[in-house]
Amino acid sequence: RVKLIGVDIGGTKCAVSLGETAGRGGVRLLERGPARATAGLAAREMLALLAEDAQRLCAGAGDAPAAVGISCGGPLDSRAGLILSPPNLPGWDAVPVTGFFEKRLGLPAFLCNDANAGALAEWRMGAGRGCENMIFMTFGTGLGAGLILNGKLYEGACDFAGETGHIRLAEHGPVGYGKIGSFEGFCSGGGIAQLAADLVRAEQQRGGRPALCPTPQDLPGLTAEKVGRAAKQGDALAKAILAESGRMLGRGLAILIDLLNPERIVIGSIFVRSRGELWPAAREVLEKEALPAALATCAVVPAGLTESVGDLAALTVAAYRLERQKEG
Ligand code: BGC
Ligand code: NA
Repeated sequence: RVKLIGVDIGGTKCAVSLGETAGRGGVRLLERGPARATAGLAAREMLALLAEDAQRLCAGAGDAPAAVGISCGGPLDSRAGLILSPPNLPGWDAVPVTGFFEKRLGLPAFLCNDANAGALAEWRMGAGRGCENMIFMTFGTGLGAGLILNGKLYEGACDFAGETGHIRLAEHGPVGYGKIGSFEGFCSGGGIAQLAADLVRAEQQRGGRPALCPTPQDLPGLTAEKVGRAAKQGDALAKAILAESGRMLGRGLAILIDLLNPERIVIGSIFVRSRGELWPAAREVLEKEALPAALATCAVVPAGLTESVGDLAALTVAAYRLERQKEG
């Protein structure tokens, strides 16, 4: 058993964890440092805090950890260990994050795209277990994917493989990734909120007072979570919003299935919470747009590691990169 440190860098919060290898490439979470709110701290200050948290975990770990795994939203350069300038981390521009932790902790550090890290964790321990070819998708604040192809993480020439949020699905629609009608626009949390705002505004302009958001003053509080809760309670407008997002999810999944012919697509975050509202619409489009044989061999399932997936993902990055190093 080898001890590992995980660093999960997200747009909302950052946290460090201590874990250990647990057989068949899996990891076990042993202890978690405090969740640090990302907003209001410069990259340098945040990293200094996280390094202190990591030092505390290392000191209590018994044996010294073997490596640090860092998971962060793209764009990044995993080989150079640089966080480039992720849209949800304003001010984090060309941050040499692996070098920083290597110096502070005296351990080898590895950086990985957050969705790729999530794919590794779901593949090793979650709903992707046993697959040779699987896609993990996450849609929370941003939309991203990690690709496991032929039993390996596929990162592409410069870590952009799986940047599915960038794929344009329609000429019009909500903006995601700075692009109208993108996959991230239709299916991320921010995108669902935009879809909701458009439909609500139209209804308000017709003189309606939709329960989801009766007046223009209520618009700022209209989040994907709120839409999800209202849809579960049967609100027709909220259900229509998620059905639209679901149709676009179906279109995006059809592209991925035709391109990569995966055995399984594992989807996290919003999909886990709102599957009942998203999936029927997604499935209908998938059946129209994906190659039937490829669709028939692909299961689309909710993520298995809902709790502490961020920590497990970062820890799995450390375990996976150490393994690959050993293989040479
Ligand atoms: C980023 C991806 C990331 C995803 C989820 C997207 O906006 O481009 O790199 O994986 O958000 O955080
Ligand atoms: Na990715």
